[in-house]
Amino acid sequence: SAPEHVTLVEMAPRDGLQNEKRLVDTTDKIRLVDLLSDCGYQRIEVTSFVSPKWVPQMADAAAVMAGIRRRTGTRYTVLTPNMQGFEAALAAKADEMAIFASASETFSQKNINCSIAESIERFRPVAEACRANAVPLRGYVSCVVECPYEGAIAPESVAQVADALMAMGCYEISLGDTIGRGTPDAVDAMLVRVLADVSAGQLAGHFHDTSGRALDNIGIALERGLRVFDASAGGLGGCPYAPGAAGNVDTLAVNAFVTDRGFSTGLDATRLEEAAAFAKSLRSTG
Ligand code: HMG
Ligand code: MG
Repeated sequence: SAPEHVTLVEMAPRDGLQNEKRLVDTTDKIRLVDLLSDCGYQRIEVTSFVSPKWVPQMADAAAVMAGIRRRTGTRYTVLTPNMQGFEAALAAKADEMAIFASASETFSQKNINCSIAESIERFRPVAEACRANAVPLRGYVSCVVECPYEGAIAPESVAQVADALMAMGCYEISLGDTIGRGTPDAVDAMLVRVLADVSAGQLAGHFHDTSGRALDNIGIALERGLRVFDASAGGLGGCPYAPGAAGNVDTLAVNAFVTDRGFSTGLDATRLEEAAAFAKSLRSTG
């Protein structure tokens, strides 16, 4: 029988480059996305329509979206925290948008300047506008196991936020181990609670690899039925409002990990190596 498919969602242009100290040239960002397109992804997260005062690295979002080559079969996705972001993303012809909430109150305040409850209210009109414009909407939950400010986060808090995002019309929830401190046991306990409300087919894993446990955590998530994982070419990534966060788990490593377990990703590993080499060349050295 044909191998079961695992979808890898590429994060390097967004999660990767948002955390680089220096500002990467718009032309280099476009080149990175174009190299990634050639790898055969179904989804590439290109940029964020966020406040340039908060994340100066993403200030050229519209120019990047205008400059990329669009491959048939790839969806070019962006982050949109509010209606201002939605309008700009729609004008830039984003194929998919993502709203991003947190299971930690303190991280919510630090990252998007409002409480969890306020963020849900702020996302509601974005979700309605996405539906009205037939734009698929993804939801992120950050700090699903650990918060850089609060420490351990209760699985119940994660489930509540995931439920709210699902009720709003997100087709998928990406569960973020924002600072990569999740142990397989903690990740499993979190998944068990979230899976009581949301089916595995509507969940994605978003693991940062700070502690070198991201692949173990993906293994746990695979056992729990998840088949979508966020990963970053060259292992770039982090969040400017999550001190201590390292990059997303490396796409090449995840591709090898799931392929070894008999899944297919549809990605071209040779091209992925080329894209990863270019992604790494954009990384600040200091
Ligand atoms: P605020 O300051 O409370 O917003 O920020 P405001 O509505 O009061 O507006 C203040 C100014 O920002 C105004 O400009 C607005 O126009 C502007 P001014 O009048 O002062 O010149 N503004 C915008 N500009 C462009 N695009 C917009 C936008 N919205 C307002 N969309 C806000 C609130 C949410 C905007 C801000 O906190 C923000 O942009 N935060 C984004 C932080 C971020 O991008 N973090 C990284 C992504 S999340 C992540 O990495 C985690 C993830 O990977 C999963 C995981 O690992 O856990 C997804
Ligand atoms: Mg992240």
